[in-house]
Amino acid sequence: MVSPPSSAVSVVLLMAAAAAAAPAQLPAEMKTCKQTDPKYVQCLKIALQDSLPTLVKGVRSLGTQPIDPLKIVALSIAEEKNKPVAVNLDFSDVTISGVGSSVIDAVEMTPGSYDIKIIAHAASPVTMNGNYKLEGKVLALPIQGMGDCNITISNTAVELLLKGAPLEQDGTTYFDVKDFKFSFTTDRVYLTFNNLFNGDKALGDNMNKFLNDNWEEILKELRPTIEEAFSVAFKDISNNLFHKVPYNDIFPPK
Ligand SMILES: *[C@@H]1O[C@H](CO)[C@@H](O)[C@H](O)[C@H]1NC(C)=O
Repeated sequence: MVSPPSSAVSVVLLMAAAAAAAPAQLPAEMKTCKQTDPKYVQCLKIALQDSLPTLVKGVRSLGTQPIDPLKIVALSIAEEKNKPVAVNLDFSDVTISGVGSSVIDAVEMTPGSYDIKIIAHAASPVTMNGNYKLEGKVLALPIQGMGDCNITISNTAVELLLKGAPLEQDGTTYFDVKDFKFSFTTDRVYLTFNNLFNGDKALGDNMNKFLNDNWEEILKELRPTIEEAFSVAFKDISNNLFHKVPYNDIFPPK
């Protein structure tokens, strides 16, 4: 389990069981690109797209957890007073689906470097299902509830920014991801919180309608949590792979 330091947001992931010690081999289905390739980034874009189904399932030999569905044990936002949306919101047993539909639009990486930028979009809606516990105020209205919820994000475009450094181990160099920044845009978020107000259906239905009418304001509040969840999960998944397979095996010099 890991819980990174963060101001208002906290994320707990179920970590994969410790896999074999480094070094390991890249799964055969995952293609690589020579650093000398004159079309290096175009090659990386195709290699990453082709590797997606493998990564989505999770690579057992490397101990990377599946990306779709992505399971998150706990996610929480602490109330920040004087904000339009001031809630204590705890999610648990969250399942995020749809990320596997991602289309890689571009990869930026200087050959031999430890910085990667990936631009992608999801071809299907991304859904977050799980349990929630919520209390606070949304745009001046009190809100309270506990039950299951469904947050669906349509037309998701993402930017992944990996900043890393070489990690030397037994004379071999590995890619150590120090910082993984996940950010996204969307044209619409659909929210369903079941069992709001102790199950009062009329109040709950009204509030869900209100939340959906004001999805942009709500997203402002949820965005750091969602971005943090993906950043933590993807950093973990990439380091599981990068810490086991030598840099030169993933990014062959020639
Ligand atoms: C979540 O909500 C979306 C959009 O409202 C819907 O299409 C989807 O079936 C729901 N998923 C679940 C598991 O309830």
